[in-house]
Amino acid sequence: MAESFVLKGNICYSMERDELLVREHSYVICENGVCGGVYPSLPEDFRWMECVDYGDRLIIPGFTDLHVHAPQYAFRGLGMDLELLEWLEEHAFVEEQKYADLAYAKKAYEIFTEDLVKSATTRACIFGTIHTEATLLLMDMLEKTGIKAFVGRVNMDRNCPEGLCEAGWGKAAQDTEMWLERCCGFKNVRPILTPRFIPACSDGLMRGLSELQKRCHLPVQSHLSENREEIAWVKELCPEVENYGAAYDRYGMFGEEYPAIMAHCVHSGEEEMELMERRKVFVAHCPESNANLSSGVAPVRAFLNRGIKVGLGSDIAAGSGLSMFRAMALAVQCSKLKWRLEDGALEPLKFSEVFYMATKGGGEFFGNVGSFEKGFAFDALVIDDGDMRSPQKLSVQQRLERLAYLAEDKHIAAKYVGGRKIFGIS
Ligand code: GUN
Ligand code: FE
Repeated sequence: MAESFVLKGNICYSMERDELLVREHSYVICENGVCGGVYPSLPEDFRWMECVDYGDRLIIPGFTDLHVHAPQYAFRGLGMDLELLEWLEEHAFVEEQKYADLAYAKKAYEIFTEDLVKSATTRACIFGTIHTEATLLLMDMLEKTGIKAFVGRVNMDRNCPEGLCEAGWGKAAQDTEMWLERCCGFKNVRPILTPRFIPACSDGLMRGLSELQKRCHLPVQSHLSENREEIAWVKELCPEVENYGAAYDRYGMFGEEYPAIMAHCVHSGEEEMELMERRKVFVAHCPESNANLSSGVAPVRAFLNRGIKVGLGSDIAAGSGLSMFRAMALAVQCSKLKWRLEDGALEPLKFSEVFYMATKGGGEFFGNVGSFEKGFAFDALVIDDGDMRSPQKLSVQQRLERLAYLAEDKHIAAKYVGGRKIFGIS
């Protein structure tokens, strides 16, 4: 249950895109699960609340993982010698077929869920598989943790193995609708429409899902312009559209009325970016995945210059780990390579910018999430870096930056989502 309390510590958060606010030895208020602001001394009005003093520890907003495939967690860190299309066939599709077996799904999703709880992620947008029962099982497990998530039963009906193929358009829409009906009891976990990507979704399927979306008012998540071969394939499959994004847009599945997350966008051109900007599409930037599958480096600076919304994703299992700290460091590192080797006009990302992406940038998909501004959901991480030794006194900002590069998710002392303590010391 969400409660009202106060936390004291070294508080870091962002309000603007390239601003990192540091409030040392300050107080952050949680009122019924909602942030009541940050104060240097505790205002009279809040003195009645329990105050947990976390001493010299850091307190930051929780991270949002804007793109992760739960079933692929089982083969993370394996099979990295291929590019996207071969990798899907040889690894991802092979693993995902196993989720027809509920006993296997239970074992695999228990591991994923337990590790997600321990991670720095407080909210996530998650792909399941085409299997309704296994996806509901995953949602049930996540619901109990208190983590907030959008979860999608994946839709696909072409260019995939038989075991992952919808049984006709009508049946796909019907099955998806039945899945939606069975999601009604969840509070922390919500359904999201999840056409896998254009090469795996026929026009009939997209039409059926589009009708369902309008009836049920669903957000959508998918993949966009990740790999050059994939993009050429989309051109072949949909010769009539101007760009890959337009292949979703013609079915109303590219933002605007219903919010959309598009993962990767590594090779999005000006025209596609213009459409992303107009439709307020969220980009899930997944730097580790894009390196592992040799996809390239997304032009994140160009997205930011246009005001396109960007969050970070782990993209398990093309990305190997759940750590959003690691995703932050990699986003900076990859942007430097792009700037040095590919396009000198795209300045490297700064730490403050990737911190924003991991918190408020991706959090915006859930509403007022990812900051300690008044009225934001109270998602917080308490971080104890006391055993990361240094001969010099580091500032709070330096300690935070160092965590991204050195620590991954090992130092989380406590985690709160919507005011509920998920784990930790008090
Ligand atoms: N495109 C379609 N499916 C997938 C997937 O599972 N992972 C990645 N990285 N890209 C995809
Ligand atoms: Fe993906």
